[in-house]
Amino acid sequence: MTSVTTTETTTTETTTTETTTTVVAFAASTSTTSINKQLVTFAANQLTSVSEKAVSAKVLDLNDYLCPLFSEDMEKAIGKAESAEAFLTELQAADGFIISLAEHNGNFAAAFKNLYDWTSRLERKMFGDKPMLLLSTSPGQFGGASVMQIAQAGFPRMGANIISQFSLPRFHEAFVDGTITDKTQYNDFLAALHAFQATFKATFQATARHNTDTKQ
Ligand SMILES: Cc1cc2nc3c(=O)[nH]c(=O)nc-3n(C[C@H](O)[C@H](O)[C@H](O)COP(=O)(O)O)c2cc1C
Repeated sequence: MTSVTTTETTTTETTTTETTTTVVAFAASTSTTSINKQLVTFAANQLTSVSEKAVSAKVLDLNDYLCPLFSEDMEKAIGKAESAEAFLTELQAADGFIISLAEHNGNFAAAFKNLYDWTSRLERKMFGDKPMLLLSTSPGQFGGASVMQIAQAGFPRMGANIISQFSLPRFHEAFVDGTITDKTQYNDFLAALHAFQATFKATFQATARHNTDTKQ
């Protein structure tokens, strides 16, 4: 019923059954050791393991979408960034998003902000009014709370329908052997994930109702 594909070689699970929903997941970081990449991949895997319906989660790596540094002069010179166009294509093909935010000086990591700016010039409502689960983590005690606030304020203007959010402080102590070790934090994480998933279940039910109605 489920599959997870990634742009890396470490595909975690495959399936031959029909896929009905595609969640695009990514860390807003280009660090090759990104803790947000670890968290978002964990979330993508958990999503598929608890879903009642077929869901495919595709984990992107922002290193595959590097753009020149945005400026209006650069935009005049090159028109649009091809990587932003490819990124937007992924966003438009998705039914929902899981994004884990790295915090640099209280804000987005520069590589993500750059891609975000280029993409916004192609399509301001880049998230297409689709459901979003927002995550953040950092090694410190606030877990990226500041960048989380910035995303919560700004992403809806770009078409994000933020369903739920979860921040994990002190990543290196809190995420051990590939999981969230504290039971309360894990339950909070699951609550956010399940709220996100519930939007797809509602869609499945509405589709099933529609199919029944049109058969009558
Ligand atoms: C330039 C820079 C600024 C940072 N600023 C913050 C910050 O404001 N708040 C915070 O919690 N961590 C901050 N950190 C630590 C990051 O949270 C940490 O590097 C984390 O691993 C970034 O996420 P990533 O591994 O997914 O890229 C900063 C790190 C760098 C390199």
